[in-house]
Amino acid sequence: MQRVFPPPAESLSVADAYGDARPTVSSGRPWIGLCMVASVDGSTVLDGESRGLSSDTDREVLLTLRQLADMIIVGAGTVRAEGYGVPKKPGQRIGIVSRTGDIDPSLDLITSGSGFLILPEDAPPTTIDCIRAGVGDLDLDLAVRNLPGAPRFVQVEGGATLNGALTQADLIDEINLTTSPQIVGGDGSRVTKNAPPTSRRFDLFQLCEDDGFLFSRYVRRRDS
Ligand SMILES: NC(=O)c1ccc[n+]([C@@H]2O[C@H](COP(=O)([O-])OP(=O)(O)OC[C@H]3O[C@@H](n4cnc5c(N)ncnc54)[C@H](OP(=O)(O)O)[C@@H]3O)[C@@H](O)[C@H]2O)c1
Repeated sequence: MQRVFPPPAESLSVADAYGDARPTVSSGRPWIGLCMVASVDGSTVLDGESRGLSSDTDREVLLTLRQLADMIIVGAGTVRAEGYGVPKKPGQRIGIVSRTGDIDPSLDLITSGSGFLILPEDAPPTTIDCIRAGVGDLDLDLAVRNLPGAPRFVQVEGGATLNGALTQADLIDEINLTTSPQIVGGDGSRVTKNAPPTSRRFDLFQLCEDDGFLFSRYVRRRDS
């Protein structure tokens, strides 16, 4: 890929573009980075999945960030739509955010012990390993402070509903957004869904390009 911003423009590998160590968050929770791909017209879904929006380089970005991350968090809707396997990084775990706990316990992700649920206290009982936080609504801020193994860098992989809840809780420190060079129409969700109107200001950290795909990385401006 080629870096467009910051200057000077240069060719660099995905690992060089994304591989730097993440800062420690002073309040004691993990650094939370969001990784998503969206079409030029703002959809995060094509034919019910993200696959058709992606590219080989975009997949490399996702995998590079997964290698850096200590833990992955994803919404239950995305696990149900896309299927999630066991992470390649040894010992890495995937937290599945849910209200209902409605995840197939026979998935390899679960039987391997890699996957666990993140539920409100009063969610239905489950045989799947879980952490619980908040009554009624999931307390995401509390949940990310109590993740098993105290991860330092957590990668969130959507979908839009989970991203909306994280936006509401102001828990997104970094956005890795790939813009896929296509218009896809339809009524697919944009990057966030159901968050109340707000303005969370981010700074552009880096912009790269490969085969018409734009790879932007934004970091939350915390003094705003
Ligand atoms: N373009 C991309 O980069 C990208 C990335 C990821 C996903 N996607 C696509 O996006 C679609 C899925 O997105 P989505 O918005 O429908 O689903 P989602 O955010 O993945 O999952 C929604 C589900 O997660 C749980 N959830 C989310 N926020 C919660 C909260 N605050 N408290 C408790 N539970 C919460 C609920 O699970 P329960 O229903 O179990 O209670 C909810 O129904 C799929 O088509 C997927 O392919 C695209």
